[in-house]
Amino acid sequence: MHLQEVGTRDGLQAEAAFVPTIDKIALVDALSRTGLAKIEVTSFVSPQAIPALRDAEIVMREIERRPGVVYSALVPNLRGAERAIESRADEFNLVMSASESHNLANLRMTREQSFAALSEVAALAHGAGVAVNVSLSCAFGCPMEGDVAEAGVLEWSRRFVDEIGACGVTLCDTTGMAWPGPVAALTRDFRECWADTELTLHFHNTRGMGLANVLAAIDAGADRFDASLGGIGGCPYAPGASGNVCSEEIVHALDLMGYDTGVDLAALIAAARRLPALIGHDIPSQIVKAGRRLDLHARPADFDAIRERALARSS
Ligand code: COA
Ligand code: ZN
Repeated sequence: MHLQEVGTRDGLQAEAAFVPTIDKIALVDALSRTGLAKIEVTSFVSPQAIPALRDAEIVMREIERRPGVVYSALVPNLRGAERAIESRADEFNLVMSASESHNLANLRMTREQSFAALSEVAALAHGAGVAVNVSLSCAFGCPMEGDVAEAGVLEWSRRFVDEIGACGVTLCDTTGMAWPGPVAALTRDFRECWADTELTLHFHNTRGMGLANVLAAIDAGADRFDASLGGIGGCPYAPGASGNVCSEEIVHALDLMGYDTGVDLAALIAAARRLPALIGHDIPSQIVKAGRRLDLHARPADFDAIRERALARSS
C-alpha cells in the first residue's frame, strides 16, 4: 500500500493560523523520514486565495529530499506551474472538479475552461520533465449538485490520461459523500480502463466513512491513498467540509490487517502529536487520543486489593 501525505497542503490550507515557514519545513522533513511514498508539500496557488500557503516556494526549496519520496505540489494554473518548476517540485497535482458547480465555486471556471488551461500546464510540465497527476474533486458527490455520475468521472479521467498524458489520477471525495458501494464500483471500473495509470483514492472523513471507503477501495484493487496527519484538512469552498482520513489511523488499521505500508507508525504518531501546538487547536486523530491498540495502560493502583477482595468473595 502506498500512503501519500496531504496534511501540509489539504490540511494547512484550511487553517486560520499561519504556520511559520520553518515549522512547515520541519514537519515535511519529519514526514519524509516516516517512509511515506509521496508528500503533497504545498500549493502554488494565489496567495490571496490561500494565504496559509503563501510561502510555497521557500518550503519546497528548503525541505530535505529523501530518495524514494515523491515531493508533489498542487498547481492550479500556468503561473503556479512556473513557480513549482522553479522550486523543483517532482510532480504537479492539477485540480479540477468532476462537478460543474464545485469547479466554478472553487476555481472560477467551467470544467471545459479548466481542462483547456490544465492542458497548457501539463504541456509545460512535460517539457520540464515533471510528472503530472490530476485530482478530480467531488468524484463521489457534490455538496451543491448531489450525486455525480460515474460515467462523467470516467470520461474526465479518460481525457486527462489519453489527451494530456497524466500519469496519475486521484479520485477525491472532497466532502465525504462517498460510501463503499460506489467506491468499489468506480475503483474497479477505473482499473479496468487504465491498468497502468497510478490511481489514488482521496477520502475525507466528514461523515465517518473514511476507513470503510479505504477498505472497499482496497478490495476493488486500489493500493494508493491520500491521508492527512492528525486528520486535519478540508476544502475552504465546500460547506461543512472536514479533514481527510487520518494518516496514523489508516496506517494503524492497515498494519493490523497485514498490509505493508512501509510507514513507521511510531514516527508518524510523534509527528502528529506536534500538530496541535502548530495549528493552535486539537486534532481529530483517534490514535493520538487513544494510542495504538496495544499501547497498554497501567492497572489501577489498588489492583491487588481489588483482586484479593474478588477472590475472597468466591472462596
Ligand atoms: N500563484 C500566485 N499568484 C497567482 C496565481 C498563482 N498560481 N494565480 C493567480 N495569482 C494571482 C494573480 O497574479 C492575481 O494577483 P493580483 O490581483 O495581485 O494581480 C490574482 O491571483 C488573481 O488572479 P486571476 O488570474 O484573476 O485568478 P483568479 O482570481 O481567477 O483565481 C485561482 C484563480 C484558481 C488561481 C485562485 O482562485 C486560486 O489560487 N485559488 C485557490 C484554489 C485552491 O487551492 N482551492 C483549494 C484546493 S481544492
Ligand atoms: Zn481533499
